[in-house]
Amino acid sequence: MRWGLGSVTAAIAAVLGAFGLPPIIAPAFRHTKSPWSPIGKIGAPEAGQADLALQGQVVATTFTRTLTDAFMPPQAQQTAVFVVNLGNGQFDVFDARCTHLGCPVSWNQSTNEFYCPCHGGVFNMQGNVVAGPPPRPLDRYEWKVQDGVLYAGGLYRVKGES
Ligand code: FES
Repeated sequence: MRWGLGSVTAAIAAVLGAFGLPPIIAPAFRHTKSPWSPIGKIGAPEAGQADLALQGQVVATTFTRTLTDAFMPPQAQQTAVFVVNLGNGQFDVFDARCTHLGCPVSWNQSTNEFYCPCHGGVFNMQGNVVAGPPPRPLDRYEWKVQDGVLYAGGLYRVKGES
């Protein structure tokens, strides 16, 4: 009897191991890469859209980002960013969340700084910390321009001049 139960248990474990478990744990080991998401067309903003052709200015906008997770189906999320058109086809795309505790930062045109209202964090136009508790510069998105459209890719941290 004891031997029989052990055999059945071993057989179930073998079947689960061979067929049941891999599909369950595979997503955790799957390499996920952020898909490119369009932020907007450069130079031809539609009504209510940010003008990404403005050079040397910080432009607040949002885009729909597809979030991928190992165990969940892809989800779309509205994401706030600040875009700076640096000229010569170069851009900075800053995440709009403070690197201290994630509060939304705002751009102050008169001081040329990003300001976080939660604990007084201040970042300059390059995203570097100039005051307050944030431990690192604003996070950034990879970006590319394709067919006149600015796309955002993966979000990454910048090591700091902070
Ligand atoms: S969350 Fe921005 S300074 Fe604390």
